[in-house]
Amino acid sequence: MFTPEMMESIKKVEATREARMAVEPRRMTAEEKSELLKAYHPDYRPEGFKEIKIGPNKGQKAPVELADLLHSNSRLLNENIDLSKIDYDVDVLVIGGGGAGCSAAIEAHEAGANVMVVTKLRIGDANTMMAEGGIQAADKPNDSPVQHYLDAFGGGHFAARPELLRRLVMEAPDAIQWLNKLGVMFDKYEDGTMVTTHGGGTSRKRMHACKDYSGAEIMRTVRDEVLNRKIPVVEFTSAVELIKDDKGQVAGAVLLNMETDDYLVARAKTVIIATGGAGRLHYQNFPTSNHYGATADGLILGYRAGAPLLYQDTIQYHPTGVAYPSQIFGALVTEKVRSLGAMLVNKDGEAYAHPLETRDVSASAIIRECAGGKGVDTPLGSGVWLDTPMIEMIHGEGTIEKRIPAMLRMYLNYGIDMRKVPILVYPTLHYQNGGLEIGGEGYTKAIPNLLVAGEAVGGIHGRNRLMGNSLLDIIVFGRNAGKAAARRAAETQLSEMNLDHIKAYADELAAADCAEEGVSPLLLPNYARHQR
Ligand code: FUM
Repeated sequence: MFTPEMMESIKKVEATREARMAVEPRRMTAEEKSELLKAYHPDYRPEGFKEIKIGPNKGQKAPVELADLLHSNSRLLNENIDLSKIDYDVDVLVIGGGGAGCSAAIEAHEAGANVMVVTKLRIGDANTMMAEGGIQAADKPNDSPVQHYLDAFGGGHFAARPELLRRLVMEAPDAIQWLNKLGVMFDKYEDGTMVTTHGGGTSRKRMHACKDYSGAEIMRTVRDEVLNRKIPVVEFTSAVELIKDDKGQVAGAVLLNMETDDYLVARAKTVIIATGGAGRLHYQNFPTSNHYGATADGLILGYRAGAPLLYQDTIQYHPTGVAYPSQIFGALVTEKVRSLGAMLVNKDGEAYAHPLETRDVSASAIIRECAGGKGVDTPLGSGVWLDTPMIEMIHGEGTIEKRIPAMLRMYLNYGIDMRKVPILVYPTLHYQNGGLEIGGEGYTKAIPNLLVAGEAVGGIHGRNRLMGNSLLDIIVFGRNAGKAAARRAAETQLSEMNLDHIKAYADELAAADCAEEGVSPLLLPNYARHQR
């Protein structure tokens, strides 16, 4: 299962384990972190970025792959869509069937709105489902939302939009209670209090988890609630363009049935973009922990209609993606493994950094070790060790099976028993820190009645996100968007619908002489067998 070189290196990891466990690695100073990030974080590689040539963020940079999609025309440019033939007519249209979309749909329905969810794959095919480690909330006596705010604000390099981060932390305890009442099976002690642990950059133990399949459990619960309420869900159908009306407000979306290739018109008084992330764009050729449909569609839909982006140039590379075996290259190894005590160790058995630095710092330190010849060679590159047997030594035998069973099973499938041997990791593309800019209520800055929730939002976390704040933001901002959209829909009158912005965008692209060959949104990854 391991190469002879790997086996040699494992011996060094074992030989240094006892001494390493006796001394906690020191935390880096602010200056050390800043130098490390500049030298090794992929956000600082100029070749990974390109200038945006048109639209509200013109002149700013974006990852090359995203910029190319922003510089592509609509697939409807030469289509004749009959907007008078309306296939769906609703108060609230939710685009995306992940955690944010489902939370929004539940609250809009609760408020009495006629709501519909459209999703290009199946409901629950989303990054929410892939999330493992947990969801943060300051709900223990030694903690407070202020403390949570300070951790997240610092971890995000003081760039989070204060009104968004304030909402996130203040509404976190209620989000946990809401999920608990819906039926999420959180890890609890015998007396019913919730188990909470640390994540990278947290000053208090506030990570609530469902073993290491927290996202799957949350997704299961909100999906069931959507289905129980009989909220219509249109699956295998992509939103390919927003529709506006004569007043300039959003008025629905043109949908593409992915099975029949038919276009459909959904008229809606309010629209919530909850389309998730961009991992399947594989920025800078990184592997990804994201689900198959993570292709930044919502960013493209919003931007073409005139909504600005925020922090589109900052990406989160989760420090611990699988580096070996190759079959699961890039899959997530939850931060909970480090929160339970496993150290990051280079090929010589040295713990070169504290295991719970913030993610951008941890990822950069791994990249530095590997670039400096301190990584272990693998068939697809290199990696460092995550010393998982330490977990059982610290917390007792059986801890891995009890607390991170999904990790254990994933590796056992390939003959690797992480209770006995360390595992090899390298950063994987995990999260888009940036996205469409919103105000506190969830509305985009430029397009009336258009809201955004979840990973498609930019600004909640600043330029780096702490573990567990994404499962939190999909619930907090998803719920708020659903409530706000239902309220607004009740007072909205739509006028004549149009797709004028598509032609205007094409003219801008032509004038800037930057139009790419393909069309956007991408919908499926470039390597999908059936291209759209
Ligand atoms: O490491 C993890 O379990 C990931 C959590 C997150 O991105 O919040």
